[in-house]
Amino acid sequence: MKLSLLFRALLFGVSASTVHARPGPSKSYTEIYRPQYHFTPAKNWMNDPNGLVYDADEGVYHLYFQYSPSGPKWGALSWGHATSKDLMHWTEQPVALLARGFPGNVTEMFFSGTVVIDEANTSGFGRKGKVPWVAMYTSYYPVEQVLPSGKHVLKDVQAQSIAYSLDKGMTWTTYDAQNPVIAEPPTPYQDLYKEFRDPGIFWHKETQHWVALVSLATQHKVLIYTSQNLKHWDFASEFGPVNAVGGVWECPNIFPLSLDGKKTKWVLVLGLNPGGPPGTVGSGTQYVVGDFNGTTFTADANSIYDGSGPEDSVIFEDFEGDATFAARGWTATGDLANASPAKGTLAGQNPVTGFQGQQLLNTFIDGDATTGTLTSAPFDISHKYINFLVGGGSNVNETAIRLKVDGRTVHTSTGSNSESLAWQTWDVSKLQGQSALIEIIDNTTGGWGHINVDQISFSNTRATSTIANWLDWGPDFYAALGWNGLPQGQRTIIAWMNNWQYAQNIPTDPWRSAMTVPRHLALKTIDNKATLVQEPAGKWKSLTNHGRAFTFRKVESVRDLGRIGKTLELELKFSSDRASSSEKAEFGVSVAATRDYSHETRVGYDFSTQQVFVDRTRSGDTSFDGTFAGVYSAPLAPSSDGTVSLRILVDWSSVEVFGGEGEATITSQIFPAQNAVYGRLFSTGGKTADVKLRVREVRSTWR
Ligand SMILES: *[C@@H]1O[C@H](CO)[C@@H](O)[C@H](O)[C@H]1NC(C)=O
Ligand SMILES: *[C@@H]1O[C@H](CO)[C@@H](O)[C@H](O)[C@H]1NC(C)=O
Ligand SMILES: *[C@@H]1O[C@H](CO)[C@@H](O)[C@H](O)[C@H]1NC(C)=O
Ligand SMILES: *[C@@H]1O[C@H](CO)[C@@H](O)[C@H](O)[C@H]1NC(C)=O
Ligand SMILES: *[C@@H]1O[C@H](CO)[C@@H](O)[C@H](O)[C@H]1NC(C)=O
Repeated sequence: MKLSLLFRALLFGVSASTVHARPGPSKSYTEIYRPQYHFTPAKNWMNDPNGLVYDADEGVYHLYFQYSPSGPKWGALSWGHATSKDLMHWTEQPVALLARGFPGNVTEMFFSGTVVIDEANTSGFGRKGKVPWVAMYTSYYPVEQVLPSGKHVLKDVQAQSIAYSLDKGMTWTTYDAQNPVIAEPPTPYQDLYKEFRDPGIFWHKETQHWVALVSLATQHKVLIYTSQNLKHWDFASEFGPVNAVGGVWECPNIFPLSLDGKKTKWVLVLGLNPGGPPGTVGSGTQYVVGDFNGTTFTADANSIYDGSGPEDSVIFEDFEGDATFAARGWTATGDLANASPAKGTLAGQNPVTGFQGQQLLNTFIDGDATTGTLTSAPFDISHKYINFLVGGGSNVNETAIRLKVDGRTVHTSTGSNSESLAWQTWDVSKLQGQSALIEIIDNTTGGWGHINVDQISFSNTRATSTIANWLDWGPDFYAALGWNGLPQGQRTIIAWMNNWQYAQNIPTDPWRSAMTVPRHLALKTIDNKATLVQEPAGKWKSLTNHGRAFTFRKVESVRDLGRIGKTLELELKFSSDRASSSEKAEFGVSVAATRDYSHETRVGYDFSTQQVFVDRTRSGDTSFDGTFAGVYSAPLAPSSDGTVSLRILVDWSSVEVFGGEGEATITSQIFPAQNAVYGRLFSTGGKTADVKLRVREVRSTWR
């Protein structure tokens, strides 16, 4: 992992008085904001998890991580180290790979990478019956130099190197005779040596060779290498760009999981910075599901987004071709009477984006002066959903698309005062078999007095304007990595619970950054798509008390829960059956709240958009970054029994939400006041039924 040039300057600001190459004595871990059951180093800066490996003989999980020995800011990047027997209680160990030259002038930093246990001694690093562990990492060279291997490297080169350990990961020897073992990117990418990093290595059993994934960060490419001995690597193939490309790709890693417990699929995980999930600013993590044959990764078609609707879509109207609306079967009135679909943007309009094909309905015909209506011929509702792309004005009475059944409007949608069309969906599952018609109105001439519609279609899948499979929809989940060495088919991951947008400014001291809770992954078909589902790993019950249970037949407005604490596991379940109303229909729980609720973090569900959300706009200290106060949402359909379930982990400076079966997660830091120990339920825009809540306190794993 690297930082921008801005931060590299810090490296040269290291002073001897702030040098701490080893972790300090075991601390009480009681400082304000100190996570109580998440991993943090006792002090100093941390970012990406690295080299996760499980030592099955000893039953020990190793966690290495990007670490600055020089203080709570990025610099002199080294590999910190911690171990655990249960993925919950961690013991910080001495630094595993200390920046070369530190604390003087650093000549090599150890950026992100991974560790494998070389059981078969393919590397030949084994000695006296000891199995070698091999780490592959990115060497970052801040100065031009000739290395011990005789290789010459320029300033700012990133190249891939290896080190080995003969004492089960406690101490490491760099392979100075040959490092770096991948000195530069392959043809034609040699010039991109400053953006070449984060090797993810593993043993590919089926083809009996080692595989390394290396990111060509600014090109949104993953380069795939193979090796027999971890020392000599052959470039095999490349993958990308696909899906989210709003920032550099980092920390690629790939692993097999069985889909629904049946056939094996491969999941490629990629860090992205910036360009994270919708509504966030900065870092995010995406994944792509597909197949891997030992040299080549092939993505499944439905894991890639091109903006088109679901595969099973039956198009009702795509507005292609020159025929007038009337000739296409619409009853057209007003200025639309003799009009036709538009070829994209109209005169005087800002660029219209997000439509499919060449044409769309665009009522900016005579600028915003155009008014009129289009009414479709009646049709029978044949599928669970009606999907369409819509943009333009946002007034439900003036620029709208409506579904009418028996002359009654049952659904209304609008644009969002934007020329960018986005998918919207009407859930018509309960109306199947009935006759309906669609009405599109432009009833106003004012600002945003137009509507854009395209690709009205019937489907049993909701369309989304999603551009990626987000591993987590929150702002604080980056560089997710899984443990090598677990039994085949198991994947447990951990991620850096921070965001480059503000990572260096979060108000914690003397450490900066935590890891998420480790999460166990499974791959399930949800909404016709292979989807990662997550749950907290480890024996949770051993950390929590029995807790308090609350049951409410109905909740309206707010319901105080009183003092619930600061380290919590909440399980919240409620009915998704809510009549729509004019007010936003939301239900959820406020946590980490002060007595007067001037500070609270709201975790809830929006019934109309079917999204779980975390609102940290009033969560406590948000002052250190202008973008920190935000609301983050993830799509979550109710379960088949008509309920919504949320599992919420609250620590002294974080909230992690697992929605449904874990297909929607939102990870978010918060910095609440010391006395933010209260909680309450909220229900806006009506009553929420069949509410069940269990609140358990989670014990500190540090005391
Ligand atoms: C560190 O580098 C600077 C500039 O290159 C040089 O002036 C200084 O002597 C070096 N210090 C050490 C301890 O090598
Ligand atoms: C591993 O290979 C090296 C090099 O061939 C050899 O010297 C060593 O004895 C081997 N170690 C083990 C444990 O097999
Ligand atoms: C893997 O797939 C690629 C692309 O289809 C192909 O060129 C290659 O030969 C395959 N390798 C193996 C081991 O099957
Ligand atoms: C739409 O019209 C209704 C009924 O006249 C009115 O109550 C509502 O406020 C209007 N909504 C907007 C967004 O103008
Ligand atoms: C357009 O607006 C007028 C008054 O503002 C209203 O009477 C009429 O019903 C509206 N038309 C549609 C199709 O909604």
